[in-house]
Amino acid sequence: MEPILTIENLKTSFMTSNGEVQAVRGVSFSVGRGEIVGLVGESGSGKSVTSMSILRLLADTAKIKEGKILFEGEDLTKCSKARMRKSRGGKISMIFQDPMSSLNPLIPVGKQVGEMIRIHHPEKSKEEIRREVLELFSGVRIPEPEKRYGSFPHEFSGGMRQRVMIAMALANRPELLIADEPTTALDVTIQDQILKQLRELEKQFGTSIIFITHDLGVVAELCDRVIVLYGGLVMEEAAIDDIFERPRHPYTLGLLASIPSVDQDKSRRLQPIPGSPPDMTKPPEGCPFAPRCRYARRVCAEELPEMTEVGTGHYSRCWLLDPEAPAENNPFCGKRGESHE
Ligand SMILES: Nc1ncnc2c1ncn2[C@@H]1O[C@H](COP(=O)(O)OP(=O)(O)OP(=O)(O)O)[C@@H](O)[C@H]1O
Ligand SMILES: [Mg+2]
Repeated sequence: MEPILTIENLKTSFMTSNGEVQAVRGVSFSVGRGEIVGLVGESGSGKSVTSMSILRLLADTAKIKEGKILFEGEDLTKCSKARMRKSRGGKISMIFQDPMSSLNPLIPVGKQVGEMIRIHHPEKSKEEIRREVLELFSGVRIPEPEKRYGSFPHEFSGGMRQRVMIAMALANRPELLIADEPTTALDVTIQDQILKQLRELEKQFGTSIIFITHDLGVVAELCDRVIVLYGGLVMEEAAIDDIFERPRHPYTLGLLASIPSVDQDKSRRLQPIPGSPPDMTKPPEGCPFAPRCRYARRVCAEELPEMTEVGTGHYSRCWLLDPEAPAENNPFCGKRGESHE
């Protein structure tokens, strides 16, 4: 699949009074046209910083230190601010983690979405823009769009506000949509409806989507491919079926064990991964997951393993994949050469 976005060795840090927070430490992945890629990982793994780096919406204390972000062949890290402003909400758009903070509380929602169209298409008339906004509202299933056009964000429920955000993100038919945990705060029914809408969008317009979440269950429903982040690094990358059927990183195994399943007995507790993520002001030299990994050996804490291809389009960074790694207590042992068909 031809990539629309390619990120190469992205390193983004924050300069704080406690020192340099190395939030993203060399992330590489690409997104194909019309592909839905899931970016997963626990809180603090670098998901939002990666996506904010793409759109250059980072705090002033942040710096992209290294790497390339190629969108349709152009390196966005080298783009002028004015040009980035033009891309945002146009060819690339984003649905943010918190819809309330990204909507202006003082402006009616219809007008806010219309403004997004006007910025990118000043030639369009007021009537044309209003009509397009109403179409977008019905597209994201906001009931009675005419009536809701003039409502203010606080008059909407969380789910409806999220739909306004989606309508705004879709206003200019983006080629790439970045959705940062768009459904986490919503109840399951609304979450399902929104996922359905994203899938329709991809089918209808061939929109590429980066879907950020810590919920692998949601990923299973929506995504074609998954990038697993931890400690500012990609730990594993694979097609959706490979992630669920042949995970090749202990961190991914841990995430899979913590998915609530529909038929799961409610009294059975989920198993969160014990321990906590690394301090990114002093990221570990070895595998960042080593201190929490039940399979870790000495080498794991000392040296960062390279990304290794373990199957078609399936990559992982783990010393357990080393052919020399001892067989006992190795969850991947004997499986390495397995067919990936
Ligand atoms: N403005 C900031 N200043 C300093 N450090 C920051 C800032 N924003 C993020 N970080 C740090 O960067 C790292 C990655 O954060 P990021 O927001 O990308 O995590 P995330 O994967 O999106 O987590 P979540 O699931 O909670 O949204 C974390 O260690 C975080 O503390
Ligand atoms: Mg985030």
